[in-house]
Amino acid sequence: MTLMHLRLRSAALVPLLLLLAAPVTAQRRAPTPAGAGARMNAFVDSLLARMTVQEKLGQLTQLPGPMRPEDVPLIKAGRLGSYLNVNGAAAMREVQRVAVEQSRLKVPLLFGHDVIHGYRTVFPVPLAEASSWDPALVEATARMAAEEATAAGIDWTFAPMVDIARDPRWGRIVEGSGEDPYLGSVLAAARVRGFQGRDLADSTAMMATVKHFGAYGGAEGGRDYNTVDVSERTLRETYLPPYRAGVAAGAGSVMASFNEIAGVPSHANRWLLTDVLRGEWHFDGMVVSDWAGIAEMVAHGRAATEAEAGRLALDAGVDMDMSDSVYLAKMTAGYGVSGPSRAALDEAVRRVLRAKYRLGLFRDPYRGTSPAREQAATLTPAHLALARESARRSMVLLKNGGGVLPLRRDLASLAVIGALADDSASMIGPWGGMGQAADVVTMLQGIRRAVSPQTHVVYAPGAAVLGSDTSGFAAAEQAARGADAVVLVVGESAGMSGEASSRAELGLPGVQQQLADRILATGKPVVVLLANGRPLAIPELAATAPAILETWFLGVQAGTAVADVLFGDVAPGGKLPVTFPRTVGQVPLYYNHKSTGRPADASNHYTSKYLDVDWTPLFPFGHGLSYTTFAYGPLRLSATSMGVSDTLVARVDVSNSGSRAGDEVVQLYIQDEDASITRPVKELRGFSRIALAPGQTRTVSFRLTADDLSFWGPAMKRIVEPGFFRVYAGTSSEQVQEARFELKAAPRH
Ligand code: GLC
Repeated sequence: MTLMHLRLRSAALVPLLLLLAAPVTAQRRAPTPAGAGARMNAFVDSLLARMTVQEKLGQLTQLPGPMRPEDVPLIKAGRLGSYLNVNGAAAMREVQRVAVEQSRLKVPLLFGHDVIHGYRTVFPVPLAEASSWDPALVEATARMAAEEATAAGIDWTFAPMVDIARDPRWGRIVEGSGEDPYLGSVLAAARVRGFQGRDLADSTAMMATVKHFGAYGGAEGGRDYNTVDVSERTLRETYLPPYRAGVAAGAGSVMASFNEIAGVPSHANRWLLTDVLRGEWHFDGMVVSDWAGIAEMVAHGRAATEAEAGRLALDAGVDMDMSDSVYLAKMTAGYGVSGPSRAALDEAVRRVLRAKYRLGLFRDPYRGTSPAREQAATLTPAHLALARESARRSMVLLKNGGGVLPLRRDLASLAVIGALADDSASMIGPWGGMGQAADVVTMLQGIRRAVSPQTHVVYAPGAAVLGSDTSGFAAAEQAARGADAVVLVVGESAGMSGEASSRAELGLPGVQQQLADRILATGKPVVVLLANGRPLAIPELAATAPAILETWFLGVQAGTAVADVLFGDVAPGGKLPVTFPRTVGQVPLYYNHKSTGRPADASNHYTSKYLDVDWTPLFPFGHGLSYTTFAYGPLRLSATSMGVSDTLVARVDVSNSGSRAGDEVVQLYIQDEDASITRPVKELRGFSRIALAPGQTRTVSFRLTADDLSFWGPAMKRIVEPGFFRVYAGTSSEQVQEARFELKAAPRH
């Protein structure tokens, strides 16, 4: 039985209009023992009372590591609160010792790092893990990343990145969970739980950071750092839910985003960082700026000086200043921290000190780190096994014409073509932490290890990812012609997605499409593997390649996992967390779009579509095939109507109608047929990844309550309105079974 993964608690059900109160009571960190909060606050206040203004501003200052000689006097003077990118137990102990033994108040430092998808054992990039639709897996890899990183002295990660992204031109789409608020919320909470564990004071707990707050993924043109201009309703309906879910899961920190929203840079957005985050969501952790995000408000044209930028940020609710030292260096010289800022200053320092207290740093500033512990915790067999399993479950089979896949492992000869097949650095992906290319099993290595001894594997790069050199085509074609089957690896290098890596085009870079055309023209059975950090517009490949497997960037066990799937040890079971367009001209293109007054209709000229391109996606949200097939029975509802306090159960029987075992991600969507605010044509409200043996059938159930039907109404309050709703269950956002029910208004008393 699969229950709704994420549920917001309603405070009171009001007939007709359901006003949801703010408190979100989903899973948080372990409840603080009675009295512990009072003890923590007393400790923090007593420490704060002894601090000078300089020491307070120091607590709010984070510098990039490694520690430089000129930093030592700052640390000794208590004018530094944190480092990022000081890596290694030995390095952390050396720096921490200066702070806790040679300063006046001996306040320990926080050590942050971007542990995004693994520390040294690098797991698949977050967009790949999102393709697994497996929250337990995502939580497990985050937990293992925390075990490695904390052993190396890191107690704070700047992750999870939970920005909703509907524009694949934006390179940072690779760092998140795609286009859907519900999937993004479930995975945000899972990562926070994984990073932080049950208690932040545990030596393997790593404080999570929900980022980038907010709506960073809404950048116009998909151009990184660009302007975001969305309505409050779009902000609340689409972009805010995953941040809220991460906060509800107990995240210890939130990072402000570089962008502005409707004219207000996030680093000066008091409504966002204080009224919403702390007022509505009751966040009691700390807010960190993004890198130089405070100083950049001068470039935004929001502050005339960095000192003014600092005051704006402090008053908006930014506690820790990453890397630009505006708080430390610009807020006292010629600018007395007085008036409202002094109160804001003290509150910001309290929040930083509380974070250090919760992490147990005042009890043990070293949190049990040591080179021996670091060595023992890194790249362990268990971590590598999980990296392999995560990579297996993150792949998405986009096409498998004629059952080309799985390949036989005893073929006489197999050609492997494409520079990415042998590119270990790219398998690490963007934000690879401390991952080393040398730790990676490349696709070529994985294939060579997996085939039978008599199989002759021939490798030809064919062409680089970028550039116009086609001199390698002939050798690649020759390799293909001489083989029984071909594995062609194309896509992007890791540096083409991630931060500051937006693309205006979404096709295969360089001459890879021409290489693919040449190889496909041989008529051999060709399996195309995509290695990429964003959806690609590949209509030609989709039309001509017999089989296409989306692999994203799978981390240190990429090659092992790819071979497991290629040769059928395991069937691919992932689903797309993002829409693949046919061309960049369709962007933004996402499944949960509005109907409009003239929904696209090929038979009616005057409807919403294009003259030159089919308006539909190349591959839709939720799409993914298996090596077997699945049959869905009719969608059954426990009732044809429900009241606002009822629960409706939707059930569907799913059968494995093929001859191989496989996983299916059963998805549940709703549609509010008519409401006071237009609603999307579909909204994901549940999913469950199930394993089925050949011939096996399982009944998958989803529970719907009024919360799941709610939306932000005309008065900008969460409400639900009576009326008819459609329910969809299926294998993707397009292939679904449908049912319908009515939500009835509560009887008037
Ligand atoms: C970067 C990124 C942010 C990261 C920070 C520290 O600019 O925007 O995601 O956590 O700096 O590396």
